[in-house]
Amino acid sequence: MCSLDGLFANNKAWSAQCIAADADYFTRLAHQQAPRFLWIGCSDSRVSANEILGLQPGEVFVHRNIANLVVHSDLNCLSVLQYAVEALKVEHIMVVGHYGCGGVQAVAEHRSVGLADNWLRHVEDIAQKHDDRLSAVENDTERGARLCELNVIEQVANVCRTTILRRAWYRGQRIEVHGLVYGLADGLLRRMGVSVNGTQSWIDRYQSSLQSLDSPTSMT
Ligand code: CO
Repeated sequence: MCSLDGLFANNKAWSAQCIAADADYFTRLAHQQAPRFLWIGCSDSRVSANEILGLQPGEVFVHRNIANLVVHSDLNCLSVLQYAVEALKVEHIMVVGHYGCGGVQAVAEHRSVGLADNWLRHVEDIAQKHDDRLSAVENDTERGARLCELNVIEQVANVCRTTILRRAWYRGQRIEVHGLVYGLADGLLRRMGVSVNGTQSWIDRYQSSLQSLDSPTSMT
C-alpha cells in the first residue's frame, strides 16, 4: 500500500515554489476568492477542472459528482450553485461531461455498478427520454458517447430551471450556462451548442442543441 509521504513532499515543494514566485500568494488567496467560473463536472480523476482550464487556485469554483448531474433535490449541488451565483457572482457556469464516463457507459450498456445504480437512475431517465436517439446507435461506445452529450444538455436545462438561475436572471444578473463535453483521448473541451445567458429562452437553446446532435455538422 502506498503511503502519503510522497504527497506531503510534493505539497511542501509546491508551497515553496508558489511563495518563491510570489511572496504574497497564499496571504492573498486566504483573504479572498473571486472565481468567475463554476465547473460542474464528473468525479472521474482524469477530469480535473483547474488543469484542463489552465487555471490557478482561486479561479474556478467546483462541484463534482458521478456523471456530472444537477438533480433538483440535491442540496449539495444546489448549495454550491447558490453560493457561486449569489455570493461569488460567477459569470459562467460550465456543466462538463466527458466521453468514456463510467457511470454514463454503465447506463448505456444496462450494466449494474452497485449502490451508484440509484444515483445513475437520473441518467437512465435521460436515456429513456431520448430512446429514439439512442436506440439508433448500435455500438456500445458510440451510444455511451451520445448519452454523455445528451446528459450534458439535460443538466444545462436542469441548471437553468433552478430557482437560483431563474431569480438571478430576473434580477438582471449577467450569468451564462454552458454545456461542454471533454475528450479523454485528446484533452479537449467541446461545446454542446447549448450556451444560455438568460436573455433568450433556455428551452430554445435546449431544442436547437438537440437538433444539432441529430445533424452533427451544424454543431457549434
Ligand atoms: Co465520468
